[in-house]
Amino acid sequence: MRSIDDFSGRTVLVTGASSGIGRVLCRRLAERGARLALVARRRPALEQVCAEVTAAGSEALVLPCDVADRTQAGAAADAALAHYGHIDMLVNNAGYGRHARFLEWDLDDMEHMVDVNIKGSLYFTKRLLPQMIERRDGCIVFMASVAGKVATPDESVYAATKHAIVGLSDALGIEVEDDGVYVMSVCPGAIDTPFFSEEDLARMPPVAKNSLADPEKLVDHIFKALAAGRHETTYPRFPAAAYPVRALAPEFMRRQVRRATLDAVAKEKARR
Ligand SMILES: NC(=O)c1ccc[n+]([C@@H]2O[C@H](COP(=O)([O-])OP(=O)(O)OC[C@H]3O[C@@H](n4cnc5c(N)ncnc54)[C@H](OP(=O)(O)O)[C@@H]3O)[C@@H](O)[C@H]2O)c1
Repeated sequence: MRSIDDFSGRTVLVTGASSGIGRVLCRRLAERGARLALVARRRPALEQVCAEVTAAGSEALVLPCDVADRTQAGAAADAALAHYGHIDMLVNNAGYGRHARFLEWDLDDMEHMVDVNIKGSLYFTKRLLPQMIERRDGCIVFMASVAGKVATPDESVYAATKHAIVGLSDALGIEVEDDGVYVMSVCPGAIDTPFFSEEDLARMPPVAKNSLADPEKLVDHIFKALAAGRHETTYPRFPAAAYPVRALAPEFMRRQVRRATLDAVAKEKARR
């Protein structure tokens, strides 16, 4: 597959399906005729998404699973394969972030973030890619982040995990292109989901807090990018303007990032 526009009858496994972007994506995929496998830790939340998928006229398999656990992830992927026979599309979306200074950040949580945000994607991709290659048909979407392109203070480990995901998606996408598997990474900016805790919102620069984007619009954008066969896409679009600046003038970019983050927060504190 080199792009995908028609999801009718397609089988799609979405990790992080219980909330936020994953939840909206599952409902919207169901409205377009996809059959879903829903992965996340919280069964009751997955059951609610399953009801939304059913109400949209499709079907879903609920697969409670901690994606950071290799055995659980393998078992969930196998259960989806056993149920549907094959999986056409994998969306590696499960993940979480934190806003904290590096030294104040608990090392256990740093490791856990690496396990969830990176290893979870490795486990599902390892299990589901071979059957895509065998059928010479498949699509893998990695939910990265603008933080995977331009790193900002207070999210060092999160940025590291998302840079890893962009790298994984880029390299894998080229490797498997001639085997009929289409790979795309999505780099959302700040999206209005439960991803941000109250504490995160309090630490966020005012300009970012006031411009959280609608997840429905992100999903519209993802569908358009998939139909166009893009390999990387950013929504909202404006942060993508920083990517070439980062590449061509890293010192200038660093000053701009500092000004928009640490300096903006300090200025806001002083104003209050
Ligand atoms: N919101 C944003 O501004 C933003 C921006 C850029 C990128 N992203 C990325 O988009 C993805 C989805 O985030 P979101 O905004 O939709 O946040 P969210 O509403 O908090 O959803 C996160 C999802 O990940 C699942 N998850 C977390 N840890 C898991 C684990 N160990 N095992 C299985 N599932 C796990 C959660 O389900 P359970 O709690 O039920 O396990 C939930 O379904 C993440 O990868 C995030 O990094 C978000």
